[in-house]
Amino acid sequence: MRLPIKLNRAGWPASFGRLSFVFDDPRPLAKDLTSLSPVEFSAAISTLQFGVTFKTTHPGRQEYSDRHVLNLYRGSRPVILDVGASDGSTSLDLIRRLGHNFDRYYVTDLNLFTSFGYHRGVLYFLDQHGRCTLRASQRFIVYSDTERAQPLLSKLAQWLISRSRKVRDWREILLIQPELINLASEDRRVSILPYDMFTPWKGETPDLIKIANLLNGKYFSAAQMRQAVAIQCANLAVGGRLLLVSEDDGIEKFSVFRKTEAGMILEHTHGGGAKAAPYVPLPDDVRNGIPAGKFAATCASLGAFHQS
Ligand SMILES: C[S@@+](CC[C@H](N)C(=O)[O-])C[C@H]1O[C@@H](n2cnc3c(N)ncnc32)[C@H](O)[C@@H]1O
Repeated sequence: MRLPIKLNRAGWPASFGRLSFVFDDPRPLAKDLTSLSPVEFSAAISTLQFGVTFKTTHPGRQEYSDRHVLNLYRGSRPVILDVGASDGSTSLDLIRRLGHNFDRYYVTDLNLFTSFGYHRGVLYFLDQHGRCTLRASQRFIVYSDTERAQPLLSKLAQWLISRSRKVRDWREILLIQPELINLASEDRRVSILPYDMFTPWKGETPDLIKIANLLNGKYFSAAQMRQAVAIQCANLAVGGRLLLVSEDDGIEKFSVFRKTEAGMILEHTHGGGAKAAPYVPLPDDVRNGIPAGKFAATCASLGAFHQS
């Protein structure tokens, strides 16, 4: 991160709010979580960074793809694997939208837990390996990711982060919307599980795999995205779908691929398609969304390809 020290929105005038280096306050996560609204909870979570990825999310983010998924599965009972769901806000949206139209919904993320602790009024957060990833005071948020920072700034950030050694008491929390935790405890169709997209899924075969705002050039190299996509395609049986979603300036874009005997085909695209769509391995003669040769009939029978 080029600027590992950000301003905490909580400690500065509201007029600072639009600056790119002003981040939401993560400290409400150390309070009574049930007192936070879903939007406040997501805002606090979104400031957390584990490894290279941020937990950025918020409810109501994927209206168009949610609607599309309902249209695809109305009247049927798909098994859905939601990969990199962060606090599950967008999973909750899709679950509510689907109502009875699903059999199982797996809400998964690589980073489901954090531990936090105070030293001299400053809050420190740890990742699942016990490494301090973030430090938050009233005015500043400091990240341990100093990779592209100026040497002096990097040293200062690392020193501030190293103060986490002074924390005596750590408390662990599940980084999932309280409402979704309640839902999962009441509805046996909904499960919350840790899952790394770079590994094969060991559970029941999903009919739909959704990956939203994770396969992104800011986080991963092209080779890594190709590898993750290949693993997710292998997780599907023939007939299964891969839904990739991304966002540009708040505009939702998505691509839906369907697995056929011949490989993956592009079935639907919205808003120009997801950023990671080019990493989905298509059979040679359907690349670029132009069905040709022996795959044309398969694509036509599946209704590929639509644009919205
Ligand atoms: C930017 S958030 C996207 C949240 C949500 N899908 C949305 O669209 O609002 C990316 C999430 O992916 C998770 N993540 C990072 N690396 C992952 C991996 N290898 N496997 C699964 N999840 C991962 C992060 O912990 C984070 O919660």
